[in-house]
Amino acid sequence: MAAPAPLAFPDADPDFAELLAGRPQLSVDPLAGLLLEEVPLARIAAEVGTPSWVYSAGTLRRRARVLDAALAKAGLAHSLHFAVKANTSLAVLKVLAAEGMGADVTSGGELMAARAAGIPASAVVFSGVGKTAAELRLALDEDILQINLESAEEAEILSGLAAGLGKTARVALRVNPDVDAKTHAKITTGLTENKFGVPLDEAVDLYRRLAAMPGLRPVGPAVHIGSQITAGVAPYRAAYARVAEFVRTLRTEDLPVERIDCGGGLGIPYRNEPAPAPEALAGAIAATLGPLGLPVMLEPGRWIVGPAGVLLASVVLQKQGQAKRFLVLDAAMNDLLRPAMYDAWHGILPVAARDLAAPCAPADVVGPVCESSDTFTRDRALPHLQPGALVALLDAGAYGAVMSSTYNMRPLAAEVMVDGSRFAVVRPRQDVATLLAGQSVPGWLAGGGV
Ligand code: LLP
Repeated sequence: MAAPAPLAFPDADPDFAELLAGRPQLSVDPLAGLLLEEVPLARIAAEVGTPSWVYSAGTLRRRARVLDAALAKAGLAHSLHFAVKANTSLAVLKVLAAEGMGADVTSGGELMAARAAGIPASAVVFSGVGKTAAELRLALDEDILQINLESAEEAEILSGLAAGLGKTARVALRVNPDVDAKTHAKITTGLTENKFGVPLDEAVDLYRRLAAMPGLRPVGPAVHIGSQITAGVAPYRAAYARVAEFVRTLRTEDLPVERIDCGGGLGIPYRNEPAPAPEALAGAIAATLGPLGLPVMLEPGRWIVGPAGVLLASVVLQKQGQAKRFLVLDAAMNDLLRPAMYDAWHGILPVAARDLAAPCAPADVVGPVCESSDTFTRDRALPHLQPGALVALLDAGAYGAVMSSTYNMRPLAAEVMVDGSRFAVVRPRQDVATLLAGQSVPGWLAGGGV
């Protein structure tokens, strides 16, 4: 066998120690290997199997509190609404509900998940560019805190529905500030070319119309410029400054403004890259919107739940290609889509203590799905790993399980919640029988042979 190629990373990835240093929820026990809180991930793999999503309740609580404290310290009256799209596990939502977080939902299904987890309707915001009449009716029936309107067309539909039911919907108007969030093109939302919100120069006129429409009560603006924002808080500052100006204009016309929905988007250091701290975001809000004296709402998803989850997987085999070494996992792009979809970088740690200490050489880490894009990473420094060895893909708590599919007839992975030294399966692994169970073949196809 050829000697492993020398390590050559011009733009060096963080090594195992550096990945661990930034993630206090993870540690290494010399015997049990990688722990999430106090639970050996190897124990979870032995009892639950792989691939499995594993979440840390302590991390969820800690991050909810840090964000809350940062806003409080900046002197902002505020409420937090977890962006349920990032993770819809009822166990995750329950932990956050107990921390006093509300929800930002983007479908009727997410609204029902938030309610099922005990989040009060009075703390639920409904965002999204294409809410159906059935979803709007559900929101009205539940009497949720706020519906964020994204267009004049949607306002007309909601007004008709609400007035017909004799109800008044509290609505925010999502404005598009035309600010470049400097994030991946597929997750930027605050540019004129994006489908989201109403351009600021049309927003005053529409807000005036909302105030006059039956069944609607405008409560303020909403803005969300994109996700995984790591290029400092300048894009936020620019967007919020425009929103502040918008509110001042509304006030000159005596239009009612009760609060401001500041959206989500705070990035996390997947590759240990610099990312803005919650205090910096709170400072940007205080500097721009603070003088208006209104309560602010935040809709964080990734920042809360991303670092709280790992995707635990097993090595199926290590394949020596002509030019490359491939580590083939039992997890694939159908489980964690982010690398295939956004070229996202996720830390990968071996779970066994001896594998964490072994010499590393470059390897491509791939899944078994029949697509070249089923590649978690290329040329990553990893040790030789035997079939059955465990690895953890880090920062997989946000937009992980929720974006999974059953492509290649692969059942959805199990989900596990860890809390201190305890853990429990919070969603069992789907089985193939369940995937087949809902299907049927019409009688007129069933009879014929070939
Ligand atoms: N509010 C609104 C209106 C949103 O559209 C989003 C995310 C959020 C809040 C929460 O953003 P966060 O704090 O999580 O950045 N699947 C992509 C991310 C898509 C984000 C969509 N909207 C990914 O895996 O990177």
